[in-house]
Amino acid sequence: MPSIRFHLNGAPTEIDADPDGSLLDLLRGRLGLTGPHFGCGSGECGACRVLVGDHAVTSCDTPLWSIAGKEVTTLEGLGSEAQPHPLQRAFIAEQAMQCGYCVSGILMSAAALLRQNPKPTESEVRTALDRNLCRCGSQNRMVRAILRAADEAAT
Ligand code: FES
Repeated sequence: MPSIRFHLNGAPTEIDADPDGSLLDLLRGRLGLTGPHFGCGSGECGACRVLVGDHAVTSCDTPLWSIAGKEVTTLEGLGSEAQPHPLQRAFIAEQAMQCGYCVSGILMSAAALLRQNPKPTESEVRTALDRNLCRCGSQNRMVRAILRAADEAAT
């Protein structure tokens, strides 16, 4: 099996794997990273989003060959309980989750947005979350949390 090299949450990583296998299967199944969630398995729900470079991608339909040489960031690399990311602090402050299943993917979409556009408008936040499904109806609080994180980062 060929070897794939990339950076995972800041650490150089090399792993023997089928290049056509999915990034989500590698992260959850082999590496034990449970931040990205399995939802639809077909790139529709966004629960599995991770960052590849500065872009949030659906890891369930991202083949391993496409991440060679790239930086992959999962929820585990975004922040920690001891040092939460500003988005995580804002989601807690706004109580922007109910069941929480979608939140990992939503945080990664929001992180990609703030990397590319540190001061988004509400409309830009809503557009960035367009490909993330939340069945609990928490979207308005999530939008408030993302705008709050952007505000706090700007001050
Ligand atoms: Fe990947 Fe739904 S599990 S988009």
